[in-house]
Amino acid sequence: MKCFTLHSYKGGTGKTTIAANLAVMLSQMGRNVALLDLDFQAPSLHTLFGIRPQTTYINAYLAQEKTPKEVLVDLAPSLKLKGRLLVGFSDPNVEAIRSQLARDRKWHMQALSQLLNLKVRLQAEGADYMILDSAPGVHYSSVNAIVLSDFTVIVAKIDNFDFDGTVNVLDGLYTPLNKPTLLLFNKVVPALLEEPRYSQVRKTIEDTFSSKTKLMGFIPCYCDIALGMGSEIHALTQPKIPFVQSLKKMATILEKWPGPQGTAKGGT
Ligand SMILES: Nc1ncnc2c1ncn2[C@@H]1O[C@H](COP(=O)(O)OP(=O)(O)O)[C@@H](O)[C@H]1O
Ligand SMILES: [Mg+2]
Repeated sequence: MKCFTLHSYKGGTGKTTIAANLAVMLSQMGRNVALLDLDFQAPSLHTLFGIRPQTTYINAYLAQEKTPKEVLVDLAPSLKLKGRLLVGFSDPNVEAIRSQLARDRKWHMQALSQLLNLKVRLQAEGADYMILDSAPGVHYSSVNAIVLSDFTVIVAKIDNFDFDGTVNVLDGLYTPLNKPTLLLFNKVVPALLEEPRYSQVRKTIEDTFSSKTKLMGFIPCYCDIALGMGSEIHALTQPKIPFVQSLKKMATILEKWPGPQGTAKGGT
């Protein structure tokens, strides 16, 4: 089983959108997938999958109040997917968000141990992927997800905010934790992927990141995504659009990663 986190320095880079589409694509390919919303500050997966109200949340499993079976929902039958798609939603009620933010280090240590138990259990039950949609930044819950994962996909935009922030988390978090990363650029303006700009952008990316992470690829900005009002999984509804086609390439990379010599460093 491969376990990976979608993470970023800043919010809004597309982690949740990418996590949900990749999870669906991998289960369309027949893989058994578990997808967890670990962004307790801004739960979103329930909106994307259009599921509400949900009565049992992953929060209750982390607090040792519920079993995995009680908090994971298999969406494969309703979405007509080949493999299992077990989704753990995070509690979006404001009270739950507030109390989650107030949890101390000890609570998060216990949560990490619960997540480790879940990882072992999912693996034993034949899961091929455990995908963690994390909060941005360096809060305990994000660090837990990174620690639990075999590798992290850092989702960033091509701008200096994200370049600086990504270098910050690579140096300050991933290097000390000795955790491999893939760097995925999302919401890329198509003109940046055409010459002569592409060569310049590529050089800047290589100069900035090649010693720290591996470039996974680019996903174009797709303005019409907004037509789905945040509740459309394009891998299901519009598989032919460039946004989904680029994500398919990422799914293929994930299937092969880390490969025989798997290393995180060196750039693409
Ligand atoms: N490639 C893209 N092109 C256009 N909009 C996108 C793209 N990827 C994500 N979005 C939009 O960006 C917003 C933030 O995405 P989201 O997945 O919630 O980010 P995060 O989880 O990193 O906070 C959403 O409205 C989503 O539909
Ligand atoms: Mg999110």
